[in-house]
Amino acid sequence: MIGIIGGSGLYEMEGIVIKEAKKISTPYGDPSDVYRIGEISGIEVAFLPRHGYPHSIAPHKINYRANIWGFREIGVERIISVNAVGGIGREMVPGTIVLPDQIIDMTESRKSTFYDGEEIVHVDFTEPYCYELRSAIISAGEKTGIALKQKATYICVNGPRLETAAEIKAFSLLGADVVGMTGMPEASLARELAICFAGIAVVTNYAAGISGKKLTTTEVKEGMAGATEKLKLLLRETFSITPHSRNCACKEALKDAKM
Ligand code: HPA
Repeated sequence: MIGIIGGSGLYEMEGIVIKEAKKISTPYGDPSDVYRIGEISGIEVAFLPRHGYPHSIAPHKINYRANIWGFREIGVERIISVNAVGGIGREMVPGTIVLPDQIIDMTESRKSTFYDGEEIVHVDFTEPYCYELRSAIISAGEKTGIALKQKATYICVNGPRLETAAEIKAFSLLGADVVGMTGMPEASLARELAICFAGIAVVTNYAAGISGKKLTTTEVKEGMAGATEKLKLLLRETFSITPHSRNCACKEALKDAKM
């Protein structure tokens, strides 16, 4: 089963024939919402709106552990996470759909591991996203004619405030191409559970100081709304391309990771 985490503006998936809405409780608390389970292109998918429905959970308050754990409980082996981001790089204009390949984590005080008990585990995170899942999304982009930026570093900030112009300049010097508030710790939590994970980021605005204009949540919402049809098409095609069984390293994430 493939899991989809919907971000700001993507609260449901049209075209999904919902068979079940599953409420899951986890040892870490409650996920953002029920998991809507159904079928698209003959593939079983489970959809979760990250911010709840209606949008009521701020990025720094999301129970990322419960969300990822819940996916595993219902049998999800792969997660595609959709996020709104600000564009830092020149070519990251609003409307661009990005498939990040690297992450810089600037979040703080988020519960970011399942291993804070007795067991000492350090998962390898050199490549934070699943190669196989990214490849399927890239192929889906080619098949549908939806342009994707395939290489980009996602810098995750804590929020909820937006950045200063100087912060964005510094992030640019660090090599970041897009900035968002929700990419982490989702990606590393999925790795800790050996779940394949890929992110699809939609550039909804120029990051702070790039355009000289004030940033608004309206442009974030409108930016996501403008990309929704493309996202749905891209996801539907991705589901039908993704190989049935996993051939990537993600399923071995815990091998040689325990002290
Ligand atoms: N900064 C941080 N998070 C965001 C932005 C941004 O400019 N746009 C959408 N999410």
